[in-house]
Amino acid sequence: MTGDSSAARFTVAAPRTAPDPWRDLAERPVTVGGRELRLVHPRDSEALLDEEAFEREEFLPYWAQLWPSGIALARAVAALAGARVLATDWSADAVAFTAANASRNGASLRTAACSWTEPAPMLAQAPWDLVLAADVLYEARNGPQLLELLPRLVDEAGEVWIADPGRRPAERFLTATATPVSGWLRRSTQDRWFPQITLHRLRRRPGPAR
Ligand SMILES: C[S@@+](CC[C@H](N)C(=O)[O-])C[C@H]1O[C@@H](n2cnc3c(N)ncnc32)[C@H](O)[C@@H]1O
Repeated sequence: MTGDSSAARFTVAAPRTAPDPWRDLAERPVTVGGRELRLVHPRDSEALLDEEAFEREEFLPYWAQLWPSGIALARAVAALAGARVLATDWSADAVAFTAANASRNGASLRTAACSWTEPAPMLAQAPWDLVLAADVLYEARNGPQLLELLPRLVDEAGEVWIADPGRRPAERFLTATATPVSGWLRRSTQDRWFPQITLHRLRRRPGPAR
């Protein structure tokens, strides 16, 4: 924006606008539980890189891709269809796309944009019967944040299922949940369709509250 006055001429930078994730979309069919879902997502997730968001909290738009872990997890839970679901992500765009995809495929769910370190909307209805996450152990900081959060989301009757492609930063979380002394009982199985994906099922070990 520019302006003139008799005394001075000045220039003000235009407000920065974040990339619009709805501008250029692709649609992808995904078969889940014998049903073909049609999911929309930004065609090019790299076009959504936002330097300011990265500076602020090292945010990268990983949500905009459809990862094999997510598909594997959706297939694993298809048999549980009919549950009441709260879908969360710290990216408001991610939850907006989740809501849009649920609606266009006839599924009903609620969404909340919240981070694992500010999880009030998730805690409000805890304990949950089942907590699902796909490909969330990809950065070193994620494991400790989830180890702190997960015991607050499920009690001994609930389960946590994490589909994971085995990236190196996941090792710390997997080591920390490997033995019952951790407070978790973990069962891990290889996915049928994507051999690189492991589905980790965790249950809290019965015992005194930690
Ligand atoms: C690799 S992507 C996987 C996306 C999807 N689950 C899938 O499998 O296709 C990781 C996801 O974790 C989300 N995420 C990362 N850190 C987070 C945090 N601290 N709180 C909430 N969500 C976070 C990202 O926004 C992104 O959607």
